[in-house]
Amino acid sequence: MADITYDASSRCWILQMEASSYCMQLSENGTSLKHVYWGPRIDQQTANKIASDRLSRIYPFELESGLAHEEYLPWGGAGFHESNLKVEYADGTRVIEWVLENQGVEQSGPGQVLWLTFKDREYALRATLYYRIYDGHDVIERWVQLANAGGNGPVVLEQAFSANWWMPPRESYRLTYLHGRWGAEMQVGEIVPGPGKFALESRRGTTSHQFNPWIALDPMQEATEEAGDVWSTALAWSGSWKMVIETTPYGFVHCAGGVNDFDFIYRLEEGEHLDLPAFAGLYSKEGFGGVSRRWHAYELEHVLPASRDEVRPVLFNSWEATSFDINEHNQTALAEKAAQLGVEIFVIDDGWFGARNNDRAGLGDWTVNPEKFPNGLNGLIARVNELGMRFGIWVEPEMVNRDSNLYRAHPDWVYHFPRRSRTEFRNQLVLNLARDDVREWMLTTVDRLLSEHNIEFVKWDMNRHFTEPGWPEEVGKNPRRIWIDHVRNLYWILDELRRRHPNVAFESCSGGGGRVDLGILSRVDQVWTSDNTDAFDRLRIQEGFSFAYIPRVMMCWVTDCPNMLTQRTVPLRYRFHSAMAGSLGIGGDLSKWSDEDLAEAGDLVKTYKRVRSVIQNGLVYRLQSPRKGSVTATQYVARNHEAVVVLVWGHSQQFGESKVLLRLRGLEEHGQYVDATNGTSYSGAYLAHHGLEVRLINDFDSRMVHLVRTPEM
Ligand code: DGJ
Repeated sequence: MADITYDASSRCWILQMEASSYCMQLSENGTSLKHVYWGPRIDQQTANKIASDRLSRIYPFELESGLAHEEYLPWGGAGFHESNLKVEYADGTRVIEWVLENQGVEQSGPGQVLWLTFKDREYALRATLYYRIYDGHDVIERWVQLANAGGNGPVVLEQAFSANWWMPPRESYRLTYLHGRWGAEMQVGEIVPGPGKFALESRRGTTSHQFNPWIALDPMQEATEEAGDVWSTALAWSGSWKMVIETTPYGFVHCAGGVNDFDFIYRLEEGEHLDLPAFAGLYSKEGFGGVSRRWHAYELEHVLPASRDEVRPVLFNSWEATSFDINEHNQTALAEKAAQLGVEIFVIDDGWFGARNNDRAGLGDWTVNPEKFPNGLNGLIARVNELGMRFGIWVEPEMVNRDSNLYRAHPDWVYHFPRRSRTEFRNQLVLNLARDDVREWMLTTVDRLLSEHNIEFVKWDMNRHFTEPGWPEEVGKNPRRIWIDHVRNLYWILDELRRRHPNVAFESCSGGGGRVDLGILSRVDQVWTSDNTDAFDRLRIQEGFSFAYIPRVMMCWVTDCPNMLTQRTVPLRYRFHSAMAGSLGIGGDLSKWSDEDLAEAGDLVKTYKRVRSVIQNGLVYRLQSPRKGSVTATQYVARNHEAVVVLVWGHSQQFGESKVLLRLRGLEEHGQYVDATNGTSYSGAYLAHHGLEVRLINDFDSRMVHLVRTPEM
């Protein structure tokens, strides 16, 4: 049971979660909230004892107050490490002195929320710190609401982070993080930072391919995949973000983060408030695997929006097959083949609208191209539905080509500075979604598309980052609020579309995995993982993805060979097995597939449907990493422990060795597990301690093993 209690004698709050505790202490005069403890579960008495510990000494050029581990550090006083909040009041005062005004705990569904409101002693700023925990989980969601109660004019925010996470005192910490680029997202990086700051960020207006807002910290590099203390944090924000991992000169490590403070200014007028995004954190003693499984469980229960589908449907996407050359005729032909394979959602990608025959024109003009679709979209949709599939469509509403009716009508609707060039990426500009008129236009446009057609899936793409983030009409008011309001309005539109069209599922895409984070995941059903669909490269991308995000949301397509990006050719079965590690899709040109390939693909789709609930929603164990050695293996255990799936991919066989022995995890030692394909029965102990034998022949060979637990005798 999640439980939050306050001990008046020690002034300590303690948050009790599934297997961890978090504790903080109010100072006697209520002017500071000190971090006390985060780690394995302890009782209040132990927490109180830790809270009574004092620094062993005070260092010259420092004050005790400056060295304190503040839960949330407003800039001011003697604290020189990375702060969380920096403001300027109307009279020029730039430091904050606050005191606790109010606090309380509220029941919030299956969890509890603690809130503490601090008010500036002299000014109208109030900051409420929130902590939410859930039954059965170890995740703490933290966020902050800033309010200007009025009386002293506007409050200008120069930094407004969401949380500060202090690590327990240890000699050093290894930082694990996810970095990358287009076509190579979610690469796992490691570093052991010394004193100083290591900043991870996006200044691009969106989450980015380059860094993902997720980290893990383990002391002295001791954690392994399945054992050891690991702390992990993740931001629920799809705009520019920042995490600063600082090792102080006194050897303490903390991570402060939230909306990026680079180029950031937000003017909070009298009577206004600003809710900052959630910055979540968790602790696990079960290594990196334990961390991932905790994130996944939290996403499944508390992040992802309610869905009509217990498992994600198999989809077909037209992009790699037909690119912009899309029309009713070729899409109907593809749909007929896709239906034979067992596809459940047929998605037409870019190219169906306006003058969109390439990436140079049409973006912004969301009307069906009559030459490509003489009967509108409804003819194709009817055929797709008749074939037993749902119909899905691609949109990129936040963008515009110069060569479009929208841009000709509203050249002022894009981010720009009057005397500067408007940098184009992929021949497109970014619409200023902070504007009310753009927001209304975007909602109305997509809403109309969904209202006039039986569309049940939307792939929402975003193919460039922000440059020249200006808003000339807003100068002198609050122009830099674009960093916040673009994202807030995007979230608002998605929420509103979901409300109006509850049968529509959404996929977040940004040139592949450029917008994957807990914020967007609370509004979409899945994400496009990467434009790199090479089945071998995907193993690394998908491994990194699994550190933070559940396989259910990880969309993976089987595409043609040689692969568009890498020119690599691998067997169809290997491509399927690689894509079956998440939510399966098909993106090849089915009109060119041989009858044998279509038959094999149909069988593999059937197999996937039998095991997908275990893969998409189960417990993930990364048995062998693609970063180490020639064989990669991932195991999935059903949450009710009744079934197990193992996917194994070999890179290249050497010296005639074909046998791979995989020691499985998360099994009941006395349980019996039967191979659903050949009937072989194993005990849990055998599979855990001796291992499951798999044979891989030659290069790019792969296997899927499906084990079913037999009932106890
Ligand atoms: C980028 C996406 O990642 C691709 O899948 C495809 O939708 C293209 N955009 C279309 O322009």
